[in-house]
Amino acid sequence: MASRRASVVWRKIGLVLFMLCSAALTMSAAGFQSAEGTLIIAHRGASGYAPENTMAAFELAERLGADFIEFDVQMSKDGELVVIHDVTVDRTTAFIGNVNHYTLSELQGMDAGSYSHANYADETILSFQEVMSRFAGKIGMLIEIKNPTLYPGIEEKAADVVRRYGPRLKVAGLRDTDRLQRMVESKNSSAIIMQSFDRVSLRRIHSLLPEIPVAVLVHKDQHPLSGDTLDELASYASYINYSHDLLDGELVREIHKRSRKVMAWTVRNERDMERMKKLGVDGIITDFPG
Ligand code: G3P
Ligand code: CA
Repeated sequence: MASRRASVVWRKIGLVLFMLCSAALTMSAAGFQSAEGTLIIAHRGASGYAPENTMAAFELAERLGADFIEFDVQMSKDGELVVIHDVTVDRTTAFIGNVNHYTLSELQGMDAGSYSHANYADETILSFQEVMSRFAGKIGMLIEIKNPTLYPGIEEKAADVVRRYGPRLKVAGLRDTDRLQRMVESKNSSAIIMQSFDRVSLRRIHSLLPEIPVAVLVHKDQHPLSGDTLDELASYASYINYSHDLLDGELVREIHKRSRKVMAWTVRNERDMERMKKLGVDGIITDFPG
């Protein structure tokens, strides 16, 4: 029993050292610091260093000083909200099939870390509730509602979870730590932002949670948007978020002209990071926060 406990402790120590070393090594190549006024958002957590959308990736993003974690929310077979990017569990677990073919407890039992590295075998698929409970008020959260047409009622359920943290909600954001408070004030940001590619779903979120800013993700196929479409999006969305390669100075100006903000995804190298900073985007979504 004692030797088993010791082995678990050593395994945990090994994992922390591994995470810190791999972060340090990768950061020497990338590792993007928060810039003046620009939000640094850890895409699916610090997913360049740790398995995406896991506690390891979110905690590492927090340790590396990201302003926000970004993550993807979908629904289980029994109607619970879970944090996973793909429609299926195939890529990130040893199982196959759609996320909504599994119950929450089945999903929570899946190893969602080994696909990245054997040291992360203890990482599992998380519920939305678990992520909120751990990080609400500690770090900014960019919550993406993924594939909402597959999950009737996902907006109401997500709004319920966000509201459950109501006592910590102040001025359109959760901020119960100095660090989050400083970020909210210095970067003129809300501590929670919700986003989706699906505009119907986003409007629904906006009407359910008017105090939470929403961000429209613009799909490559929808680019370029007409001025009228930008006006329409600006009527309810606080952010219009683009793949970084589609952004140029004129588009950033058009968004800013409408008093809306723009985030660029997903930045993975220094050259793209510098280009986004020069363009004056308001947020940079990256796998390599640092
Ligand atoms: O936050 C933007 C980005 O997450 C959208 O793309 O596919 O990584 O969810 P995806
Ligand atoms: Ca996402």
